[in-house]
Amino acid sequence: TAAKKGGYPHFMLKEIHEQPDSLRNTILPRIQNKLPDFTADNIPDSLFDGITRIVITACGTAMHAGLIGRAMLEKLLRLPVTVEVASEFRYQDPIIDKNTLVITISQSGETADTLAALKLSRERGASTLSIVNVKGSSIARESDYVLYTHAGPEIAVASTKAYTAQLACLYLLAFRFGFATGKLEKEVCMDEMQQLLSIIPAVEETLAQDKVIEEISKQLTEKEDLFFIGRGLDYALSCEGSIKLKEISYIHSEAYAAGELKHGTLSLVTEGVPVVALATQQKVYSKMISNIREVKARNAFVILITIDGQEAEPSIYDYHISLPEIKDDYAPFLAAVVLQLLAYYTSLHRGLNVDQPRNLAKSVTVE
Ligand code: G6P
Repeated sequence: TAAKKGGYPHFMLKEIHEQPDSLRNTILPRIQNKLPDFTADNIPDSLFDGITRIVITACGTAMHAGLIGRAMLEKLLRLPVTVEVASEFRYQDPIIDKNTLVITISQSGETADTLAALKLSRERGASTLSIVNVKGSSIARESDYVLYTHAGPEIAVASTKAYTAQLACLYLLAFRFGFATGKLEKEVCMDEMQQLLSIIPAVEETLAQDKVIEEISKQLTEKEDLFFIGRGLDYALSCEGSIKLKEISYIHSEAYAAGELKHGTLSLVTEGVPVVALATQQKVYSKMISNIREVKARNAFVILITIDGQEAEPSIYDYHISLPEIKDDYAPFLAAVVLQLLAYYTSLHRGLNVDQPRNLAKSVTVE
């Protein structure tokens, strides 16, 4: 298996480092003449004809990709989008009909709850599109349309490269249909595709901070509780950062919308409690900084993540990770890499089984 790990000590680390490639493979074939294009995926522009609502359903990390997808789809299509955990959705007698597009997201394409949610959606007449990594899997076969993530096989239980590839697919969808439905001008759409492509070298640059993140993670090995906070896309990403850390390091953590802290969780923030503060979104940056001041005032141990060029006074953080300059919408791709590495090294330093955490399975085919 050492050979299969390509020289890396664990599949997870290998898969984290494969992200420039998996993103390239997922994005490049879908940009033609500088515009997002699904001709080769057989997804027609008529997909959104008559669609008044989108429901995204998935489990675990794939569901967290959906949280980011929701923001992008709503922004570009101006249609209401909800994100539902598949195991809840299927038992909720969901209100879906032929005017609903149900998007299921799954790395394996075999998750039982997601598959059941998809089947129910079809029974109720919804259009269905799935974002899947494994070719020919059950979810791919059951869907009207499939958009494959070309992330390659993912072996580590904790999903990494599949997640960022899922994000890429959701962005491509949002932009293609924003353009196809006339809500987004061609020039603007072309410019966005340039931005999307720019994440590939930016993810490479972020990966080069591997050793810095390893050092920071040493500060977490003895901790038992921590928080991830952010606003907007950073909040959606916090949910993913939190599950990643929990899954493999067994440290309890919570993701909180930064503005909501004062409505409860702030009582748990005391001396030395680690808070991973995501502040990559310029449009809410000053609000986020004031939330960080609130936790720092309680002597939290703050790991701050910002984009290059954003000013942050050293009094509000203990460690600062700065990401390559990029527009708000694309920051999650870079910040995701940081959170993955943070979880990886924390698990490693705690001496745990990184690739196969206790009680968890890569693909859950039972309900
Ligand atoms: C399992 C895995 C998670 C994954 C979830 C959904 O719980 O441990 O990492 O996110 O299933 O899997 P899927 O294959 O549907 O994306």
